[in-house]
Parts: sequence; C-alpha cells; structure tokens
Amino acid sequence: MDEIGRIRARIDAIDQDILQLLKTRYENAKILGQLKRRRGLATRDRQRERDILAKIQRASEKLDLNPRYSLQIFHKIFNLSLEAQREKRKPSFHKLRNKEILIIGGTGAMGQFFSRFITANGGTVTIVGRDQRRTLKTAEDLAVKPGRLLDAASSDIVIVAVPMKSTRQVCIRAANRMRSGALLIDLCSVKSGIADIIAVQTPSRIEYVSLHPLFAPDIDHLDGQNIAAVSYRTGPQWDRLSRTLTGSGARIIKMTCDYHDRTMALVQVAHHYALLSLGNSLKGWSGDLKTNSIKRTIATVRSLLGNWDTIIGIQQLNPYARQTRREFAKMTKSMVELRGPQVNRMRRDLASLVQKWSRKP
Ligand SMILES: NC(=O)c1ccc[n+]([C@@H]2O[C@H](COP(=O)([O-])OP(=O)(O)OC[C@H]3O[C@@H](n4cnc5c(N)ncnc54)[C@H](OP(=O)(O)O)[C@@H]3O)[C@@H](O)[C@H]2O)c1
Repeated sequence: MDEIGRIRARIDAIDQDILQLLKTRYENAKILGQLKRRRGLATRDRQRERDILAKIQRASEKLDLNPRYSLQIFHKIFNLSLEAQREKRKPSFHKLRNKEILIIGGTGAMGQFFSRFITANGGTVTIVGRDQRRTLKTAEDLAVKPGRLLDAASSDIVIVAVPMKSTRQVCIRAANRMRSGALLIDLCSVKSGIADIIAVQTPSRIEYVSLHPLFAPDIDHLDGQNIAAVSYRTGPQWDRLSRTLTGSGARIIKMTCDYHDRTMALVQVAHHYALLSLGNSLKGWSGDLKTNSIKRTIATVRSLLGNWDTIIGIQQLNPYARQTRREFAKMTKSMVELRGPQVNRMRRDLASLVQKWSRKP
C-alpha cells in the first residue's frame, strides 16, 4: 500500500471510531431522555448546550482546530441527541413490555447495567440489595422500584447479580419463591460448583439460565458484546429475554458449564494473572517515559482494581485457575534466558496464534 492508501485506510478507521462514539452518545441520550420523561423534566436544556459549546470552543482552540467547524458539528450532534431523547418507541419495540423483572444485587455495577437495559426495553424493574438506604437511593436514581427478595414470587424474571460467593445461596432462596414458568438468571463469572448446583437445587417448574456477560458493566450498549450462556431449563421467558439481548446487538454463545470454566481459565484467569504480575513487577518504575502501550496497561490494571472482588473471585473459584497459574509461572520461568532459536520459535508460534485468535469475534 502506498502512503496515500495508508493514510486513507487510517482515515476510514477513524471514521468508524467516530461513528461508534456517536452510537455510544446516542444510547446515553436515549437513557437520559427516559429518565427526564419519568421525572417530568424538559428534553432540551439550552444552558447545558451553551456550556458544552463553550468547552468545545476552548478545546478546539487548544487543538488548533477551527472552532467554526467543530461548533457546527456539535450543533448537529445536539440534534441527534434530541432525536434520541425524544424517541418514543412504538409498543412493538418494547420487547419486555408487561414483564416484571426483579434484580437481586440491583444496587451493584452489573445489576444497574441490567436495570437500565431492561427499562430501555419496556420491562418493569424492581431492585433489591441488602442495604435498604442504598436500595432506595439507587432505585430513585434509576427510576425503578425498590423491593425485597419476597418480590421473586410475583416476578416473571429474577436476575441475581450478587457477588460470586453469595450467588448459589441467593439463587436457591429466590427460586423457592418463584412461580411456575418464571425464569431465573445468574450472572456469575464462574460456573462449576455454582450454576451446576443451582440447576439441581432449584425447582424444575422454573426456567434457569446461567449467563456470563463478557464485558464490564461500564459499557453503554450491548451492540457487539458477547454473553456466555449455560442453559439448564429454557422456555418462553428465556426466548423473550434472549431475543431482546440479541435484538440489541449482543451475541449469545451457548456452552456447557465445564467448557465455560476451561475457556475462562485462559481468557480471564491467565490474562488477569499476567496483568497483576506485570503490575507488581513494575514496582521499581516511577511512572515517567510512558509509552502508549504502558498507558493502556495502566488503564487495564486500574479497571481490574475497580472490579477487585470479581477479579479475585475468578482466581479463587474457577476450578482450573490454580493449574492455569502454575502453567503460566512455568512458562514465564522458561523465558528467562531468551536465546536465538527459542526467540525465533516463539515469534512463529505467536504469529500463528494471533491469526487463529483473530478469526473469532
Ligand atoms: N463486574 C464485572 O465486570 C462483571 C462481569 C461479568 C459478570 N459479573 C458478575 O456479576 C455479579 C455481580 O458483580 P458486580 O460487579 O455487579 O458486583 P457488585 O458491584 O459488588 O454488586 C453486587 C451487589 O450485590 C448486593 N449483594 C451482595 N450480597 C447480597 C446478598 N446476599 N443479597 C442481596 N444482594 C447482595 C450488593 O449490595 P449490598 O451490599 O447493599 O447488598 C451489591 O449491590 C457477579 O456474579 C459477577 O461475577 C461481573
């Protein structure tokens, strides 16, 4: 590819990034619109628009971009946001309409994400946490109902989004109250010893699917996201929920409990372990002379710290974790002396691995 072709390819990639950011902004504006409607607030806030434009003007000048054009672009972006905020979907788009959904652990990160997703799809959400004040405050912020575990009895779907160590017990308690044909979902990052036990210790009259969202809860929409699913008992409620998830762009990947944990022992256990080891091995570094690559690593380690209980829970509860860490340590030890033939073999192996990994979404 010549230089012009290379730069054009880069510009094409930047255009796609801009579109992705616009989609993210649009989805946030849609949720904002729903919250404003429920609180009786006006869609348009001209003072906020003026504040944003002032910031854009200053930032453009700093970046040596002509503010005349960036301000015009932002006026168009405001139009897109207004359209998103005003979007009143036809009832047929409300895929979860008439569905009562209880989210246990609804005050936590994943619980709040699912609360927003379900509300956006027309479902009626009730959230529960152990801390009553936090439950009331979160319910008010999300414009959903605060509730109790007892509400499992009147729910069509119960989503359990509590820490891994409590998932089994909370699922079994909720399931015993659920009515025939209702759906129980957990979001646990480890399945063996949790989902397989829940499946046998919960009544066969209810549907049960164990999901693992393969993303952090700080995303804005499900488009392009993967969700692992171990389905134990499926029926109409799961059909409706899974269609809602895939209709929003998520990819549901069905698998067994054991396949999930074996794969996650590499995708999560080895990956997080490598990052935690790397972070600790950099203790002697002051933080200067940063490369882009290390900036990305710092951001990833920061996000692991923000999710500490889940990260450590995976290391402790995945039945293949210890073996994976052992093999990882053995492999890094074997790399201490980097000699000619070993280096060449490693490069070849890695190149074919990268090719293999890149084939799947
Ligand atoms: N975070 C992630 O990136 C991620 C990704 C994929 C899957 N997951 C899975 O999602 C689940 C939740 O993770 P999270 O990150 O959202 O955790 P989190 O932010 O710590 O939230 C957990 C919530 O559960 C509530 N809770 C704790 N014990 C409870 C109990 N016994 N009964 C009722 N509520 C209880 C907590 O509120 P109170 O303390 O007030 O009760 C809290 O709101 C875990 O199974 C995790 O494996 C997380």
